[in-house]
This record gives sequence, structure tokens and C-alpha cells, in this order.
Amino acid sequence: MEEKILSVRRAARDAIQSAASTLKELDNVRVQFLGKKGEFTQLMKNINQIAAEERPKIGKLFHEARTEIESLIADKTAELKERELADKLAPESIDITLPGRHVNAGHLHPLTLTLNRVKEIFLQMGYSVEDGPEVETDYYNFEALNLPKDHPARDMQDSFYITDDILMRTQTSPVQARTMERHEPNSPIRMIAPGRVYRRDDYDASHSPMFTQVEGLVIDERITFGDLKGTLEYFLKQMFGEKARMRLRPSFFPFTEPSAEVDVSCVMCGGHGTDCKVCHGSGWLEILGAGMVHPDVLSMSGYDPKVVSGFAFGLGIERIAMLKYGVDDMRLFYDNDVRFLNQF
Ligand code: DAH
Repeated sequence: MEEKILSVRRAARDAIQSAASTLKELDNVRVQFLGKKGEFTQLMKNINQIAAEERPKIGKLFHEARTEIESLIADKTAELKERELADKLAPESIDITLPGRHVNAGHLHPLTLTLNRVKEIFLQMGYSVEDGPEVETDYYNFEALNLPKDHPARDMQDSFYITDDILMRTQTSPVQARTMERHEPNSPIRMIAPGRVYRRDDYDASHSPMFTQVEGLVIDERITFGDLKGTLEYFLKQMFGEKARMRLRPSFFPFTEPSAEVDVSCVMCGGHGTDCKVCHGSGWLEILGAGMVHPDVLSMSGYDPKVVSGFAFGLGIERIAMLKYGVDDMRLFYDNDVRFLNQF
């Protein structure tokens, strides 16, 4: 009997050690040895054949064997459960020490930032923002602005013509006439018109065949040159800071009379000029063109120059952006090199 118990014990140990590599197999082993019809249970059925004085010893032996097998099965169950869980998790494992993936968020282009600032300043002053086509008729681009065919000033702007009468607009000034035509004659206007313009220019550090302008137009009764001056001075101080100063020089544009070239004190040297590469020693930077709207321009678009007057101005966004951000080559704005664009 002793032998039998020991051999069942050994067989059970071996079965647990080697045979059982899954929980299911292990459960089969448990049934085989500890189940209702299992080998230990069968052994116990024979206990009454043993002499009474032997029974405590055999009982003890039996109890030890059974206890050991139960505890081996419990240990093995825990081990297998752990392994199964580990196997399940392995393919899903995440290395939390890896650096995260960096998401490059985009941002607005420096020309858009500059244009937005210009818009903001004029919107605060109650201006509306108007729009006009980039493919424009000769009439709006030139004639309505007091530039009849054969007018020598047309040469100031070498144009991309599509047909004899249609061209890529060379300036945003045509939006002046278009806006006046949309209004009741002599009704007040206070607008800016931003947009792209096109000229047969070289492509170099300070020229591009396509660039961005903002046109301005104010019309009402008793608008004076003083209004023009005050408005532009306010704009320049908002744009370049309170220290910025403004200077007007007499100039010529067919659509304004009188006309002025507007300078701002150099943003680099503050206006003293000495050794300054940006203003070349003059202390001033030309920044926009302006003037009082020519009476013929008003009347061609249905406004009466005896009743109303107005001022207009035109500025280049690239030039302002270059001065504001200290960019010395205009082409950088169009190259789309992220090493440049990332800096804004
Ligand atoms: N259109 C002019 C240009 O492109 C700029 C300009 C000058 C616009 C004077 C105006 C103005 O409205 O009054 O050179």
C-alpha cells in the first residue's frame, strides 16, 4: 500500500511537471488524480483492507501525498495563468520610454500675418474690406483711373495682357472704381482692398512679377489732405510703433491730385541714417503712394467732385513685411522653405 501511494504521488508529480503545459491539460491531470474517480480516490477505497495499526501511518502518508499534489497543481495553475496573460499582452506592449511623435502644427504665412495686421488697423477705424478680380479689364485697371490709352504713365507698370482689353491687374486701384460704382453716387466710402497684383518685373531681392497690395479709399463731404495725413500717420505708428515718423514728398499718380510719396523713418536705424544698410543713410524708407482722388476719377464712377472729395493710398505688403521682420530678400516669401517660414 505504501508503495502504491508513493508511486501515484510520483506519477502525479511527473504529470504536473511535464505533461501539463496549458491550463486545460493541467485540469485533466487534476481530474486524473484528484477527481471523484481519480487515482487518489481509488486508493482510499482500499483503506479498510489495511490492518488497523497500520492505518494512521498509511493515512498520514496518503494525506501528505494528496496535499503535496494539490499544492503543486495550485502553483502550476498560477504559473500557467501568468504565462497566458503575459503571452496575451506581449503583442500589445508599448514602450513608454520612446519619445513621442512630434506633430508639426502649421501657422500663418508672414505675408498673411502682415496683411491681417493692416486689415485690423483699418477695421478699427471703421473701414470695410473690399475685393476685386485679379483678371481685370483695361477700363478698370487704367481708364477709370484717369489713364486713357496711350497715356505715358501706363509705361510705369509693365503689364501682363491676356487680350487687348483684359490683363492681370497691375495694382489694386481698380477696386476704387468698382467700389464707387457699387455705391449710391456721393455716398460715403471708407474701404481697403487687399489683393495680388501682377507686373512684368524681374524676380530679384526687391521685385517679383506677383506681389500683394492694399488699396485705400475714403470719400465723403469735406475730406481733406489733413485727413489723409492723419490717417496714414496713425496707421504707420500702429504698424511700426509710436516712435515711427512720417514724411510726405510730392509725387505724381494719374488718379490723385495732389499726389505724395509717403516715407516712414527707418525701422532699422530709427532715422539717424549713419551707416544704415536698410535706408542707405537717408533715415527714411518709402512705404506707400497716396493723394487726393482726382476729380475725373470721381466723376467717371458717378461721384460729383463738387459735392464730395476723397483720398486714396496704395501700399505693398511685401515691403512692409520685409521692414517689419527684417527680411532682406523678397523671394524668401515665395520659396516656401520651412526653415524660413518656421521663424514667424
Ligand atoms: N497704384 C499705385 C501703384 O501701384 C499705388 C497708389 C498710389 C495707389 C497712390 C493709390 C494712390 O491709391 O493714391 O503704384
